[in-house]
Amino acid sequence: MNFGVIGAGQMGAGIAQVAAVAGFDVLLRDVEQRFLDRGMAGIEKSLAKLVEKNKLEPSAKEAALARIKTTISLEDFSDSDLVVEAILEDKKIKLELFASLGKIVKPSGVLASNTSSIPITELATASGRPEQFIGMHFMNPVPLMTLVEVIRGYLTSDTTTNLILETAEKMGKTAVQCNDYPGFVSNRILMPMLNEAIQCVMEGVATPQAIDQIMKLGMNHPMGPITLADFIGLDTCLAIMEVLHQGLGDDKYRASPLLRKMVQGGLLGRKSGQGFYKY
Ligand SMILES: NC(=O)c1ccc[n+]([C@@H]2O[C@H](COP(=O)([O-])OP(=O)(O)OC[C@H]3O[C@@H](n4cnc5c(N)ncnc54)[C@H](O)[C@@H]3O)[C@@H](O)[C@H]2O)c1
Repeated sequence: MNFGVIGAGQMGAGIAQVAAVAGFDVLLRDVEQRFLDRGMAGIEKSLAKLVEKNKLEPSAKEAALARIKTTISLEDFSDSDLVVEAILEDKKIKLELFASLGKIVKPSGVLASNTSSIPITELATASGRPEQFIGMHFMNPVPLMTLVEVIRGYLTSDTTTNLILETAEKMGKTAVQCNDYPGFVSNRILMPMLNEAIQCVMEGVATPQAIDQIMKLGMNHPMGPITLADFIGLDTCLAIMEVLHQGLGDDKYRASPLLRKMVQGGLLGRKSGQGFYKY
């Protein structure tokens, strides 16, 4: 199968890596060669780590690397059987991309988005092939996390869904299906919890450290909610809360004013060097 991946960032590089290890021929695209180089360097490093831990044979690493081709041209995806999009979380840019891909990719090709929160059905309409469109939501870091949340758009066909379930399984993942409503399942449940934890900080209920410890020791969460929000990025958390609030129209999804203020102040978590904790 010709497996296309668009976007060579954190998620796209991870998806390309896992697809190549699974034996697919991968074509990876970004907008500039330097982003592709960065993505490929990340893939090489990640594969080397797997070899070091005896989770991958050195020959399998070389074979996987040889299966990944890179390009900056969208026209090169004309022969793709499946294209998974993992570009930045911006609805306008994703809509434009899928409108183009819908015209370029051969008629039998399936298009998928790794979006965390943008409606799959809306992206599907833009692609002009809504039955062959689906959400394929990998978790970060892709090589380590086993879940793929498979989101059926309003018009996604059974054939498309089955292809994605099979593909995810070949990639060594566990695929779980849901329907296209704001935040899907993962973020619909996770984000309000993180938002509530931030609200607790704002109200002085407890310190970030205490909140994290209570949830780790008391609920058996591997990571506390404040640490997790910093890891995901507070801007991303805010964007997803806005999607839930607008899409579901219920004030229970209102973003915490503290979350909003921290994003306004450029405190985005791990990626900016400071969020609730310093990095
Ligand atoms: N980071 C996470 O934890 C996570 C988890 C699940 C899903 N997601 C989703 O995955 C997607 C990608 O997130 P990320 O964290 O990898 O972002 P990222 O910023 O690391 O990577 C995005 C990449 O897309 C490239 N890009 C932008 N426009 C492009 C275009 N038109 N064509 C090709 N490449 C383009 C950028 O140059 C960049 O390299 C987003 O939709 C995000 O919501 C992220």
